[in-house]
Amino acid sequence: MKKILCVVGTRPEAIKMAPVILALQAEKQFDVRVLATAQHRQMLDQVLDFFGIKADIDLDLMRPNQTLSALTSRLLMEMDTVLNNEKPDVVLVQGDTTTVMSVALSCFYHRIPIGHVEAGLRTWDMQNPFPEEANRVIAGCLAKWHFAPTESSRQNLLKEGVADADITVTGNTVIDALLMTAAKDLELGLEIDEHKRMVLITSHRRENFGEPFKNICRALQTLATNNPDVQFLYPVHPNPNVKDVAYEMLATINNIKLCAPLDYAPFVAAMKRAYLIISDSGGVQEEAPALGKPVLVLRDETERPEAVDQGVVKLVGPNYDAIVKEAQILLDDENAYKAMARGVSPYGDGHGSKRIVDILKNYFA
Ligand code: UD1
Ligand code: UDP
Repeated sequence: MKKILCVVGTRPEAIKMAPVILALQAEKQFDVRVLATAQHRQMLDQVLDFFGIKADIDLDLMRPNQTLSALTSRLLMEMDTVLNNEKPDVVLVQGDTTTVMSVALSCFYHRIPIGHVEAGLRTWDMQNPFPEEANRVIAGCLAKWHFAPTESSRQNLLKEGVADADITVTGNTVIDALLMTAAKDLELGLEIDEHKRMVLITSHRRENFGEPFKNICRALQTLATNNPDVQFLYPVHPNPNVKDVAYEMLATINNIKLCAPLDYAPFVAAMKRAYLIISDSGGVQEEAPALGKPVLVLRDETERPEAVDQGVVKLVGPNYDAIVKEAQILLDDENAYKAMARGVSPYGDGHGSKRIVDILKNYFA
């Protein structure tokens, strides 16, 4: 029996790895082990609970306001013990977090092959997003299997010299997770006036910390003041660099509701309920188009160009004028809104995890 160690560290990794773990567990030929680094604590636990996944190993690494170097060094130290004890045949990592980069490096030192889920996303700018572009480039250098979500991510890997035979376009497993979840009876669980249009907001990117994030909050203040008939809902990321500023600048505005991060099912309900989404999240850029919701992205560039090319996602940066202008157009101009609110799913069809499992099955057959 081949042992596959599936690694999750943060909320988005767990959401996107969950369908892969569940699909692997359905195959008798694999001994599936789940490693939670717990780079995130509460937000990771929420997702694992929702998908009914129990970690076999939990490193409990999160510290308040952790630095990247401290987290990386603790991950590398702990992974020596994990890999010596577990001796997996394959390790699967997902995405571009510090967990992914550190686990990939550790597996390389232990000569254990890695499968990289969501491989090949690139902006070609190491500072944006920071540090994720470096994390995924490093994971990409070290991986044996590259599970690319789209054709353009496959092309990025080919440009870097990855062999064609090592890349498979699988679709992004976030769409598997979204479809599994959206099919359930979903409750938002918050009091939101059902007659009001709702704008949903998320933000957490490190390159926006400081003045850019304050610009985002100033734009939200202006939009809320100019549109008293619109309800703004903002589940605030717990990173203190975000949380402290968001509460200080937005908590007193009547039509902005701040809340703790929502569990995945209520968050999907919030996306479905939203009229418009304003976000710098990677996962939300992938999910919202599939739900027919326009997204204004609080970044100057994106490694997810497909939805921008299709005209359903627009980049506004952490730029006060652009955020206010583009959001107001979507709130006022029905035709502009309809042009963006088309249900398209450039990132996947809901069968990504099956394709990943098939590749591993064929390899070991
Ligand atoms: C991390 C990832 C980022 C990913 C994001 C998803 C890195 C460098 N960053 O950013 O790529 O897009 O997760 O959300 O890998 N915290 C809590 N509870 C939690 C989670 C976080 O309190 O459940 C707080 C802690 O103070 C923690 C801080 O947030 O120290 C930062 O967490 P960290 O994982 O280092 O960075 P994120 O900004 O969450
Ligand atoms: N999400 C959630 N609750 C929230 C906000 C987001 O469950 O309050 C989900 C969202 O649906 C998406 C994922 O978290 O699947 C995105 O995570 P995040 O924005 O933290 O990270 P990124 O995708 O930018 O790496």
